[in-house]
Amino acid sequence: MENLDTIKKILATLIDDSKYEMTILANTAALLYEHLENINWVGFYIYRNEELQLGPFQGKVACTAIPLSKGVCGYCARNLKTILVENVQLFPGHIACDNASKSEICIPVFCHNTLYAVLDIDAPVVNRFEANKIKDYEELAQIIQKQLELIL
Ligand code: SME
Repeated sequence: MENLDTIKKILATLIDDSKYEMTILANTAALLYEHLENINWVGFYIYRNEELQLGPFQGKVACTAIPLSKGVCGYCARNLKTILVENVQLFPGHIACDNASKSEICIPVFCHNTLYAVLDIDAPVVNRFEANKIKDYEELAQIIQKQLELIL
């Protein structure tokens, strides 16, 4: 299994001098897609105009907009907290962009105390994400937050 501590360090260095928000998000998606094992989609839904708009990602094409009332991403944005779904088929309202997705984790990304985006990571197997790693995924989001707050 991948080492999230190492990924955090690489991410911090990778986005350290990025001055444009899309650069940060695009490189983060690419880094996570390359280094996280057993995932089929990773990317950002950016919070704009009270809904989630598809941002930089890696994986198959995905839904372009998600209302806050729908899906795992919507739940995350509505409640401003990380949600881990062990089996997406058991989650009411899950949006199946890619039928291969079986489990997922959505982490809110904040900027200046408001929701900026949802980081969505999908896996092709049930139970891919461990509850005891939630803090690590949230730390990835905090690294992104720190750089965003320098430039926005
Ligand atoms: N996982 C999402 C939909 C987005 S795609 O999976 C990329 C959801 O149910 O919120």
